[in-house]
Amino acid sequence: MQIVEKAGEDARKRSAVTTDLPNGGTFSTCDAWVPVPSASAAATFDVERVRADFPILSRQIGGHALAYLDNGASAQKPLCVIETLNRYYREHHANIHRGVHRLGEEATSAYEHARESVARFLNAASSRECVFTRGTTESVNLVAATWGRANLREGDEILLSTMEHHANIVPWQEVAAQTGAGIRVLPLLPDGSLDIEAFHKSLSPRVKLLAITHASNVLGTVNPVRELAAAAHEVGARVFVDGAQSAAHFPVDVRALDVDFFAFSSHKVCGPTGVGVLYGKAEILNAMPPYQFGGDMIRVVDFSGTTYREIPERFEAGTPSIADAIALGVALDYITSLRPGAMHHEESLLRRATDALSAIPGLRILGTASEKVAVLSFVMDKVHPLDAGTLLDADGIAVRTGHHCAMPLMKTLGLQGTIRASFAFYNTHEEVDRLAASLRRIRGMF
Ligand code: ALA
Repeated sequence: MQIVEKAGEDARKRSAVTTDLPNGGTFSTCDAWVPVPSASAAATFDVERVRADFPILSRQIGGHALAYLDNGASAQKPLCVIETLNRYYREHHANIHRGVHRLGEEATSAYEHARESVARFLNAASSRECVFTRGTTESVNLVAATWGRANLREGDEILLSTMEHHANIVPWQEVAAQTGAGIRVLPLLPDGSLDIEAFHKSLSPRVKLLAITHASNVLGTVNPVRELAAAAHEVGARVFVDGAQSAAHFPVDVRALDVDFFAFSSHKVCGPTGVGVLYGKAEILNAMPPYQFGGDMIRVVDFSGTTYREIPERFEAGTPSIADAIALGVALDYITSLRPGAMHHEESLLRRATDALSAIPGLRILGTASEKVAVLSFVMDKVHPLDAGTLLDADGIAVRTGHHCAMPLMKTLGLQGTIRASFAFYNTHEEVDRLAASLRRIRGMF
């Protein structure tokens, strides 16, 4: 590692650290902690080359090669993310936005560069519109607790859809109970897509918020967010998008979508756990009261009264998850460097899995909308999802089973739970074939 002095520049940019990464890329602090796309990012997507970036994928589970198909719950981490965490704590750690010493400046610089990476990833107009939170759940809670309490009144309506994750339901129920606002739930069509006609019919000046998932964690359905946002704005509503399941799969452009808020979690986009993002349009964030109170979010504290900083700091009270935010920035640059090859590969995984599983007698796929991310939920006659999950695990195949934090959707489907295979760009066609073979064998056991 080389530290290069850059005399005369802004204090935040005084030093730059350039390092070779194990995956063949390089990155530097200040200018910035950004991996240069490695050979694995070549135009032709080479899945084996990409898999070499993920040490955990070479694990054996019960004598079988791990087939990790639970990416909707959490994605695995590439070496550039793991090495960033390691290097940050070994060489750069100090608190941010405080000390004038070298380490404080390096940590602050890397943290703020991560925010720039987030803004690039979302095509936000400014990195100041990107608040670091603990994840999607905290982002929803933040907006509900601040914007919600300040703007919702009795008689107002919050529109949610039947396919929402609990994280995009419960905070709104709480704020509805506190403010007297009502919740209206949008129905789905039999293929698991949103009933767009019902959505348009439900719009009225009473609707103050549309809070909707970009992609369903159960059905895989991708909602037409741009169209929904435009119609919601026509009646004066704000639009909150839960991007927990979309950000990992395709590019998100918050300006093209014209959404007011967008949230996603680091751990689902190959970054560390414990950090995530809330994007909000600057004029809306600026008008929102703070969420939590304490150090780093204040301008002046006096016993006679306290003033607060501008965005995004006013929403980042206390010492944040510095290393994790920095590594999130690296993760975003990494996955961006693999596109569009990674996206085509995921589409081919979903096609192959859909074809293979549809051919298994007694297996029913939930969610067949034309716009889907690589998430496949299904049920099997006579086989409880939990048993299927346990038996798949015995073959080294990791899937999620249960209600997937979407109990209202399960109720609508008349199910207790499903089996869900959720794919990432590092999964292979061979893993899909193993899943199908294992399911055929399991079916024969019941
Ligand atoms: N929301 C995550 C999932 O869908 C945990 O599995």
